[in-house]
Amino acid sequence: MEKSAAAMLSTEEAGVLTNYDFVARRAMESLFRTLENFSEGTIVVDAQARVVWINQRYATRFGFEDPQKAIGLDCEKVIPNSLMREVVETGRPILLDLMETRQDPMIVIRLPILDDRGNCVGAVGFALFDELKTLTPLVAHYDRIREELASAHRTLEQTRRAKYTFASFIGNCSATLEVKRLARLAAQSDAPTLLLGETGTGKELLTHAIHAASSRATRPLVSVNVAAIPDTLLEVEFFGAAPGAYTGAERKGRKGKFELADGGTLFLDEIGDMPLILQSKLLRAIQEQEIEPIGSNRIIRVDVRIIAATSADLPALVAAGKFRADLYYRLNVLPIPLPPLRERQLDLLPLVYSLLDEICSRTERHVPVLTQAALQLLGQYHWPGNVRQLRNVLERMVVTQEGREVDEDRIAFLLGISLPSAPPAAAPAAAGEEAVSTADAPGYADAMARFEAQYLARALGQHAGNVASAAASVGLSRAAFYKKLSAHKGAGLINAQNQWAGG
Ligand SMILES: Nc1ncnc2c1ncn2[C@@H]1O[C@H](COP(=O)(O)OP(=O)(O)O)[C@@H](O)[C@H]1O
Ligand SMILES: [Mg+2]
Repeated sequence: MEKSAAAMLSTEEAGVLTNYDFVARRAMESLFRTLENFSEGTIVVDAQARVVWINQRYATRFGFEDPQKAIGLDCEKVIPNSLMREVVETGRPILLDLMETRQDPMIVIRLPILDDRGNCVGAVGFALFDELKTLTPLVAHYDRIREELASAHRTLEQTRRAKYTFASFIGNCSATLEVKRLARLAAQSDAPTLLLGETGTGKELLTHAIHAASSRATRPLVSVNVAAIPDTLLEVEFFGAAPGAYTGAERKGRKGKFELADGGTLFLDEIGDMPLILQSKLLRAIQEQEIEPIGSNRIIRVDVRIIAATSADLPALVAAGKFRADLYYRLNVLPIPLPPLRERQLDLLPLVYSLLDEICSRTERHVPVLTQAALQLLGQYHWPGNVRQLRNVLERMVVTQEGREVDEDRIAFLLGISLPSAPPAAAPAAAGEEAVSTADAPGYADAMARFEAQYLARALGQHAGNVASAAASVGLSRAAFYKKLSAHKGAGLINAQNQWAGG
């Protein structure tokens, strides 16, 4: 076609055309040379995206001292993030792109090589690193976005990681020590664990501690509060959905919590609230360790450790036909009952002081001093909301606190109860407990010392003066208990006449 057209032209015109041809060809060649000279890396692949040619600098950058060694390899074997295959498969160029490498990102240009019939027979790629100064703002922008993304990923990972360890679980009474012992056992195993206890007894906190002490600690801890999610959304929440699986589904589909928790721990809070139909799917997922996202026929294998929690009476729910017995037995492999706060009298004061400490340092306030009567009132209260309620009360106390001292009236007000007309004389003070007056306590250290003295004396009283068992009940060694006791005696904080503290 070209030829016949040229044949009809005059000699002069034909000369110009040959010249044009020549220039065009030179243009192509010099374009290649220029880019090749400019670029720090040039690579040519064939139609199967195998390396046909690579220049020395580029090969060196990717660890091939001898470029010949790269010839014939799949391009991804040489350049891990290479998109040359996409270019040969689509026949379309990628004109300007940023490619991640182990060093800096690179600006790359990828062009298909077409034969006369327009078939793609290969591709050529140029990588430009620092020569293109004009692209600096673009690269800087890209770098910043990349950094932001990485930091968002880190934050997400952080929040998925356990926030608390066993040390955060305050309390040394024998019941609490038993909880911690069981929890440590749970941390050493992969078995489903069931935390049973009233609201606010620390089930979630304990889950964090178990996860953090388990071999899965570096993997995610993912929580689902079954009670907080509408029934209709629970299945998607658990198992995810394929793209466009249901009306209103995210276009890109959605990962379920099982998949998000892969390799880690899945915390199922308020499991007693789970609808029956979903219970069987959950049981299957736990037993088979595989899930099927809604609207997909894809089976995904997952490796997830289950910790479930409930404040409900599961056996009663089973008896009433509201909870599947098989799921109950599956979850109940390692049950850990968490006693309510009212049954852990000895934990109350350590909790009060530890929570106060934390609240005050967070809100930058002075730690208030509670009068003896105020402490007694806290001890008598039945705490239906357990430690969560205690924390809330203390938090309100701290932020509304005016003076330094908190008395029983204030506590009664915060608890929303009215004080009995007579002072709480029937206080649960153990025999031998010395009345600690905090009214004149000048500071936190002093208050703590007084508290410790009272605490030890009370423990001693509850164990009829037996130091070994009193020490064991509060998690101290016998020697440490003794040492503290005599120090307080020396400081006059424990009355020498005290029948248990007398030594
Ligand atoms: N033994 C404990 N030591 C310290 N804080 C606790 C303890 N138990 C519970 N808490 C605190 O009480 C609140 C409620 O605990 P959480 O674990 O959410 O209880 P649950 O899941 O049983 O309702 C949280 O702020 C938690 O940190
Ligand atoms: Mg909870």
